[in-house]
Amino acid sequence: SQVPFAVNEPVRTYEPGSAEVKSLIATYKKMWAEKVEIPMIINGKEVKSDEKIAISSPQDHQHDLGFYYKGNMQHVDEAINTALAAKEKWNNLAWEQRASIFLKAADLIAGPYRDQLNAATMIGQSKNVHQAEIDAACEFIDFLRYNVEFMTEIYAEQPVSDAGIWNRSEYRPLEGFCFAVTPFNFTAIAGNLPTCMAMMGNVVVWKPSDKQVLSAKIIMDILTEAGLPAGVINMVFTDGKETAEKVLAHPDFAGLHFTGSTKVFQGMWKMIGDNIHQYRTYPRIVGETGGKDFVMVHPSANVDAVATGLVRGAFEYQGQKCSAASRAYIPKSLWDDVKNAMEAQLKTVKMGSPEDPSNFINAVIDKNSFEKCKGYIERAEKSAEAQVIFGGKCDDSKGWFVQPTVIETTNPKYESVTEEIFGPILSVFVYEDQDWKETLKLVDETSPYSLTGSIFAQDRYAIDEAYKALENASGNFYINDKPTGAVVGQQPFGGARASGTNDKAGSKMNLLRWVSVRSIKETF
Ligand code: SER
Repeated sequence: SQVPFAVNEPVRTYEPGSAEVKSLIATYKKMWAEKVEIPMIINGKEVKSDEKIAISSPQDHQHDLGFYYKGNMQHVDEAINTALAAKEKWNNLAWEQRASIFLKAADLIAGPYRDQLNAATMIGQSKNVHQAEIDAACEFIDFLRYNVEFMTEIYAEQPVSDAGIWNRSEYRPLEGFCFAVTPFNFTAIAGNLPTCMAMMGNVVVWKPSDKQVLSAKIIMDILTEAGLPAGVINMVFTDGKETAEKVLAHPDFAGLHFTGSTKVFQGMWKMIGDNIHQYRTYPRIVGETGGKDFVMVHPSANVDAVATGLVRGAFEYQGQKCSAASRAYIPKSLWDDVKNAMEAQLKTVKMGSPEDPSNFINAVIDKNSFEKCKGYIERAEKSAEAQVIFGGKCDDSKGWFVQPTVIETTNPKYESVTEEIFGPILSVFVYEDQDWKETLKLVDETSPYSLTGSIFAQDRYAIDEAYKALENASGNFYINDKPTGAVVGQQPFGGARASGTNDKAGSKMNLLRWVSVRSIKETF
């Protein structure tokens, strides 16, 4: 069987005044005025609990959007048992039958659910129109369609046989159930992690971030409408640590698909280690964790390209992408020009609610994030080694707004250069042009993470030097472009070191982690 060859979903441009943008903003306003009530979904049923947690929007923390039902460990137990009970029937479906469900889900997002999923991402996760579109619509659709294509390639791959011998590979799902833990910052990631495991025949307990419940609910609605049988993916809103302790202690736990912080991932890995004797099978562990992504600039670089790469790379979605440019190394000879070009661009950047599509910058996700950003800015203002050269204003009177901020420092190990902030703060270290090679070494040595990075240069030998010197400093390496915005099917995404297991999301490599292959030799 063959599915249509996947192509990337065209990105809607939402031109001012267009029908597209009007329709999306109308959906946004309707959703903003509604009071939602979001249940968990276990065994295909809406599950309510005694604990209601209020939902507000990052751009207006006083605005009441309704609530979600928070679950307890009984709900987690139910989700595990339900998943295990659904396993046999789900496994016995031919892969084409499973694939159809996810292809239909992609079409539902591309069509009838597009505005709703984008609007929920704008309201709940504070993305502007364009950032929502490339995430909740396009990237999620691409994950679903490309994964189905990769799936067809995987199942088709068979070993060679010989005279009198027929060798086969049987791509079995993992024995047990899988656990997906997803972050607030990408609706597409929240959708991809549970669905790509389910696609390969697995049953899943899914714990979304409590900051992503609005769009998580719509993801479940879409999957249900696409025909996903009850119990295959069970969504719980429960305490993260308690849930991990419960799930990871279960003998049938078979795989973890995680995106989130390095610390939480390491804690879960340790729990898995502590429980290793009680599992039926060694669990698969796949994680995409933090980043402290670099932009390395050579004296031969094009100044405007650097400025655009920095402004977009560091400040789109308020720097809350694990791939965001958060530290830049700029040669002294270019610094004044880069600074001027950045200033000109930053002057045009507007900050405010996503309801106005001309706002490029929206609020950061919550109070914790706001306080964290404010702390780095205040300490930089007082530091002898650093100065805030752009932005720096923080305003929490209505929402969690932090201005796009650039900190220049003379210390390449200054806190904002080495620690992950996950906010709209870029740190710049200016190096002497003749120190180019030492600076390459420095970038690598100060990279405990290794997710994304960029080199800007026109000189091909310089590009090659950076390419080699930084080979382990990022899983996604960009030449003359910002380090964000990997496209499914084009730049498989993920990194090593403290950034994760580098099992590239949206690739065959990732899907292969969710199968357990039986090799069969038959002799005639
Ligand atoms: N895939 C996203 C990017 O490349 C980050 O998760 O920006």
